[in-house]
Amino acid sequence: MLGEILNATISITLIAAVLAIIISISERYLNNYGECKLTINDGAKEMVVEGGSSLLTTLAGQKLFIPSACGGKATCGLCKVQVFEGAGPILPTEEPYLTAKERENHYRLACQIKVKSNMRLGIPEELFNIKEFITTVERLDDLTYDIKGVRLALPEGETISFKAGQFMQFYSKPYDKVTEEVFRAYSISSPPSDNGHVEFCIRQVPDGLCTTWVHKHLKVGDQVRLSGPYGDFYYRGNCDTMIMVAGGSGLAPMRSLTYDNLNKNVDVKMIFYFGARTEEDLYYIDEMRAIEKEHDNFTFIPTLSHPKGEWKGHVGRITDLLESALEDGTAGAGKEAYLCGSPGFLKAVNELLKRKGFDKETQIFYDEF
Ligand SMILES: Cc1cc2nc3c(=O)[nH]c(=O)nc-3n(C[C@H](O)[C@H](O)[C@H](O)COP(=O)(O)OP(=O)(O)OC[C@H]3O[C@@H](n4cnc5c(N)ncnc54)[C@H](O)[C@@H]3O)c2cc1C
Ligand code: FES
Repeated sequence: MLGEILNATISITLIAAVLAIIISISERYLNNYGECKLTINDGAKEMVVEGGSSLLTTLAGQKLFIPSACGGKATCGLCKVQVFEGAGPILPTEEPYLTAKERENHYRLACQIKVKSNMRLGIPEELFNIKEFITTVERLDDLTYDIKGVRLALPEGETISFKAGQFMQFYSKPYDKVTEEVFRAYSISSPPSDNGHVEFCIRQVPDGLCTTWVHKHLKVGDQVRLSGPYGDFYYRGNCDTMIMVAGGSGLAPMRSLTYDNLNKNVDVKMIFYFGARTEEDLYYIDEMRAIEKEHDNFTFIPTLSHPKGEWKGHVGRITDLLESALEDGTAGAGKEAYLCGSPGFLKAVNELLKRKGFDKETQIFYDEF
């Protein structure tokens, strides 16, 4: 009986091994698309690449970095580029992210399309300037029980130029059962003036691939690969009052924006509403309060939805606070709103601001985490 079980187990293992070899060989030959030519912006850039990988990975291999937050899982929609030729029909995974206008203008998700033939592409020129950096971890701070402050030093003599509010792509390394690197977006929390370093506030997502690497494996002195800067979340400057609203790790870009405006003596009143659940979720509180004390044009308003102790600040949701702080209808005049947080949080704040008279195109700017 035992012998029969052993024989069956060995046979199944052998069949599985043979199948794996057949799949790997057929993948190698069937997916061999050979060399493909990518023509970008009517020939402004041309490159010959090996076919078979996603357009996002292929372009990154050529040091052309397209924004991406989800690591190619078709869940962020940030990797849009124009593909005029060579992509085939729109895939079901792309559909939720492409508006009718974008489809008309040939936009596609670079992470979903495979390079299989010559392609004609349209890529915004500013992406040509995105650089890759091999940085060194200089500091790791436990800002809360689930948010780490990460300070990275750029290589000696290198600097980074970015707009406060922008984000970088962070590449993790394989660990435990995670066999490949992943990349995710993180907003820079330090000001552009500190251009030999970048800082981030990274919240642990339970079982999250990149955040588990940062929280459980990253050490001072380790190297971290970054690319960037990316994004259009930065100060526009057509206002006398800036309403900043963030929850959780959304504080990161607000910190950079605050320091940048103060460093540059920008003549704008900044009111920062920061929402958290309990006192344990608050961080950079002393720093924000110190800035408030020193600068008349900065007001910091933290609010807790579920305070545990004797909290003397605001209690409740940010939307309730904004509801009473902004007068009805005309409250948007002379103001711009900068928002950061989860999709649900942003939806609620966006709706409230529109009701209060903010124009969604010219007065509300946000990054969805
Ligand atoms: C422009 C931009 C800027 C960002 N800046 C920051 C930042 O400054 N700090 C920061 O901490 N994060 C930031 N994020 C989020 C970040 O990019 C990652 O999505 C997040 O850290 C999760 O990555 P992960 O690899 O650990 O999780 P994944 O392995 O991608 O996800 C694991 C599981 O968790 C779920 N999940 C993913 N993200 C979240 C989430 N945020 N909350 C709850 N569940 C989630 C997924 O659905 C999945 O089931 C930003 C995102 C964007 C788009
Ligand atoms: S949808 Fe996120 S990288 Fe393509």
